Amino acid sequence: MTRQELCQAAVHMMERAYAPYSRFPVGAALECADGTVFTGCNVENAAYGDTICAERTAICKAVSEGHRDFVRIAIAGKGDDFCVPCGTCRQVMQEFAPDMEIICLNGAGESRTFSLRELLPFGFDSRRL
Ligand code: THU
Repeated sequence: MTRQELCQAAVHMMERAYAPYSRFPVGAALECADGTVFTGCNVENAAYGDTICAERTAICKAVSEGHRDFVRIAIAGKGDDFCVPCGTCRQVMQEFAPDMEIICLNGAGESRTFSLRELLPFGFDSRRL
C-alpha cells in the first residue's frame, strides 16, 4: 500500500468512529512489516475515561491477529491541527515498534510525519525493567 493509500484508509475510518461525546472522529491505518494493514477508529463510552483511541483499536486488532511488527501508522482527524497520538497511544506504540513512523493528518488532508522517538523520547519499555 502506498503512503497515500494508507492515509486514505485512515480518513475512511473516521466514518466508523463512535464519538457521540466529543464529536471528534479519528481514523487510523496501521501498516505491518509484511504489508498487512489494520484499521481502527475511536470508540467512546459514557464513562468517558473508558474511551479507546483509533490507534489503539488498530494496534489491538493487529496484535490479536498475530502481528506485532509495525512500520507506520496514519492517523486522521478533522481539526485544523495535525491529529497527533495521545500519550497513552504513544506508550502502546513504544511496546511494539519504537522505530515506527507516524503520519498525522488534519481535516484538510495535509500531513506531517514524525518518528515515535520524536514524539516519545526516552520511552519506557521492557529493556528498562
Ligand atoms: N482520539 C483518538 O482516537 N486518537 C488521537 O490521536 C487523539 C484522540 C480520540 C479520543 C476521543 O474519542 C476523541 O478523540 C477526543 O479526544
